[in-house]
Amino acid sequence: MNYDNNENSNESQMKRREFLAFFGRGAALLSLAACAPGLLKNKDFGADTSVGAFTGLKPKISDEFRVAPGFEYKLLMKWGDVLNVNGDQFGFNNDYLAIFPVANRSDEFVMWANHEYIHPLFVSGHDMFNTSMKKTLDQVKVEMKAVGGSLFHLKKVGEDYRFELNSEYNRRLDANTKIPFANGEKILGENFAIGTFANCAGGVTPWGTVLSGEENYQNFYGEVKYDTNGKREKVNSSWSYGWDQFFNRPPEHYGWVVEINPFTGAAKKHVNLGRFAHEGATTVTAKDGRVVVYSGDDANDECFYKFVSDHKDSFKSGTLYVANLEKGEWIPLTISHPVLKKHFKTQIDLLINTRVAAKLVGGTPLDRPEDCEIDPIGGAIYLNCTNNAKRNRPFGSTLKFEESNDYTGTKFKSSVFIEGGPSSGVASPDNMVFDKKGNMWITTDISDDKIGDKDHTNFGNNALFYVPMSGPFAGKAVRVAEGPIESELTGPCFSPDGKTLFLSVQHPGGNTKSLDKITSHWPEGGTSIPKPSVVQIKIPEFLR
Ligand code: FEO
Ligand code: CA
Ligand code: CA
Repeated sequence: MNYDNNENSNESQMKRREFLAFFGRGAALLSLAACAPGLLKNKDFGADTSVGAFTGLKPKISDEFRVAPGFEYKLLMKWGDVLNVNGDQFGFNNDYLAIFPVANRSDEFVMWANHEYIHPLFVSGHDMFNTSMKKTLDQVKVEMKAVGGSLFHLKKVGEDYRFELNSEYNRRLDANTKIPFANGEKILGENFAIGTFANCAGGVTPWGTVLSGEENYQNFYGEVKYDTNGKREKVNSSWSYGWDQFFNRPPEHYGWVVEINPFTGAAKKHVNLGRFAHEGATTVTAKDGRVVVYSGDDANDECFYKFVSDHKDSFKSGTLYVANLEKGEWIPLTISHPVLKKHFKTQIDLLINTRVAAKLVGGTPLDRPEDCEIDPIGGAIYLNCTNNAKRNRPFGSTLKFEESNDYTGTKFKSSVFIEGGPSSGVASPDNMVFDKKGNMWITTDISDDKIGDKDHTNFGNNALFYVPMSGPFAGKAVRVAEGPIESELTGPCFSPDGKTLFLSVQHPGGNTKSLDKITSHWPEGGTSIPKPSVVQIKIPEFLR
């Protein structure tokens, strides 16, 4: 089951001409012949490589969570775990994770987890594969509680992290939480939205709050489009949970970046950062102290953005830019732009329709730009482009962006860092994190229904890769962990001491179409239904 709004066309063969046309648009790109996916033989498959210190897993399709020799893991949280005396539960399909030390208490932390979407059959019992089954209001109410995000208290005991039941920090944000728009802004006359959902990847601000990206929001209350006269029209998405049968909530209230205080749960939605399928929101502080936020828009042929705040400690005002890779230029999305002035009445109208504005000024369409992270040593920005089913590019790539003038300037260079496909062993790179030494960790997102198909016979299940950034193996991806059947590993997050990697195991058994034929029973085994969970992986001494 693919819950994204990306079209599934035939991905069987990479069309070399299209490939060249695409990469011809980017500046300073690597040798194309060497990295064209689909052109290599199986013997060249690169997923079982060694990086000296350790040898990675061989790809496999099995219903277990596997780690490479030298690594150990434990389950930390799973869907349905009770958090507090209110009976709030850890939500479904956990994704982005962030960890915050509790002040004046050593070895205590609060963790945030995004809950992106639901599998109705598991969560509410609604059988979406039987068209005669109508979803009930009660089922929708159950589903609304399973999305958004969880905050939960952790204590470190030895090298293990343990969940503290009933801590004052344990709370939920879900599809019913009232969340104001930042700076008192109003969207369709309201200064707040009801709920957050589709929370995919995210980021952490320099002032210690979480940023959570509302990604495929269109699957919940649909989408709208505006004509050139500003006339609004509802658009139905290719997949819908049908919540709008019971609740009339404007799609314009979703698709934003939500900021959450991890200790109080106070939240706000940032209009200034634009509205699109925000994969995440990765922050960096520029030399002059201003904060910059990078964000991919995860859909076929959508763009990469950055927001340069005017401030060191807020996003109260600033400029949103879209990337043009041909020119190596960040183009400001402001109402004063001569083209945009003609199309939008106000800056808020423009921001509600960020995708339209981006295309009008020449934002470069990319292959599902997802998570991006900043190399803490080299300073470059890395962006995972997962794939583009629409253009028969099934494997994706990791792009590298080098800003010409710190992070606040308008010029950059881009290149391909890892080309997805048999030679790298990486297919559909999605989430990413850097460790303290500046090495990269990448997780993949081959769609549930494409795992092991004719394009992906050697790639095994979705996995976590370690990519050294220096030394003789620099740039080589090694498979460190692999998820159970139809799962995706998401939200990689290091503990502050760098010795533990927290990881979300999202949508195990995601392609299940009937409770009589469940495709994964992870993590509880037997005939149980699968449960998205958080695991903690102990990083071996040789990588610390
Ligand atoms: Fe929710 Fe783009 O992965
Ligand atoms: Ca993701
Ligand atoms: Ca994804």
